[in-house]
Amino acid sequence: MNASLPSTVSQPVVAKLTKAAIFLVLTLNSGKDSETTVRALCGDLSSLLRAVGFRDLEGRLSCVMAFGSEAWDRLFGAPRPKDLHPFREIRGVHHAVSTPGDIMLHIRATRMDLCFELATHIMTRLDGAAAVADEVHGFSYFDDRDLFGFVDGTENPVDQAAIDAAIIGDEDGTFAGSSYVIVQKYLHDMKGWNALPVEQQENIIGRHKLSDIEQLDSEKKPYAHNVLTSIEENGQQLQIVRDNMPFGEIGKGEFGTYFIGYARSPDRIEQMLENMFVGKPPGNYDRLLDFSRAATGCLFFVPSASFLDDVVADAAPPPTGDDTEATAAPQRASVGDGSLGIGSLKKEAGHE
Ligand code: HEM
Repeated sequence: MNASLPSTVSQPVVAKLTKAAIFLVLTLNSGKDSETTVRALCGDLSSLLRAVGFRDLEGRLSCVMAFGSEAWDRLFGAPRPKDLHPFREIRGVHHAVSTPGDIMLHIRATRMDLCFELATHIMTRLDGAAAVADEVHGFSYFDDRDLFGFVDGTENPVDQAAIDAAIIGDEDGTFAGSSYVIVQKYLHDMKGWNALPVEQQENIIGRHKLSDIEQLDSEKKPYAHNVLTSIEENGQQLQIVRDNMPFGEIGKGEFGTYFIGYARSPDRIEQMLENMFVGKPPGNYDRLLDFSRAATGCLFFVPSASFLDDVVADAAPPPTGDDTEATAAPQRASVGDGSLGIGSLKKEAGHE
């Protein structure tokens, strides 16, 4: 193996599921200074992560940093990821809202203190440059259940299948090793859900509640969540990598699921959302949504860790446009040796 060969290292999109996570969605303040501050953080993120993560290596601290469509143009300009666009709201039987978001940070660890410490350092660095639009502290609930009581994550792809689902390849060569992510914060009607007989809940999810065993195809309702979110192209299942987390605030009566889905193209997640909110065929919608309201909705691009490492704070981004599409962004140095350490394609997906 030649260690000096340039290689692209992905961010830890397919990292193992953890016991704790912080989801931060930020809006970028106006002005060039804000942009410079964010770019400076991009280049330093790996060293912040190393400093906090080294305090407990077994805590498996990781961080994914992602950018919304407009923020990408302001921060990095051309070239542009080919499928990056703002989250498209869906008005079907239920409403998938589109809410503000320029930067997303997905911080995971086996301990919340590690997540909290890293989030604090990141926000200190971004002081005056970005504001928090949404902050959710997620926890793992018993055997990876959501607050509806069902195990969430079972059918997630793992290992190579997770990489194939989430990491861009030759289809957008300039951005190979990158990913897309959609987040939605769902608030649950727990009273309504708990009033349903378990059998009806199982029909909504398409799995048995206690055992987590999938219903037989012959038993499944056409509106089951796992029917509507199973999509195919040319006979092949199109998968995504999810790392949903429960969250809540008892005093406020807030009980929710933070949905986070990574994919090599936003299209497959959008198709699942269309099936859930509009229905397939239209009207055959996901009954989970009768008990879960999407309070936020954002789409971000997750550049590779190598890209982030090479961002230069002071360089103004070249404008986006057809004539500039093919040129490499001058604010980045050439891809280095990929020894960033904030993520690797080789990381296994799976449970703790
Ligand atoms: C209220 C929010 C949500 C809850 C509580 C929830 C819960 C669940 C549960 C319990 C399962 C079955 C176990 C598993 O395989 O993980 C599941 C499966 C799945 N969910 Fe969700 N989910 C939510 C939102 C979404 C959204 C918004 C999407 C995509 C846009 C999605 C995509 C999927 C997929 C692809 C599967 C696996 C289906 C299969 O292949 O069997 N989920 N979800």
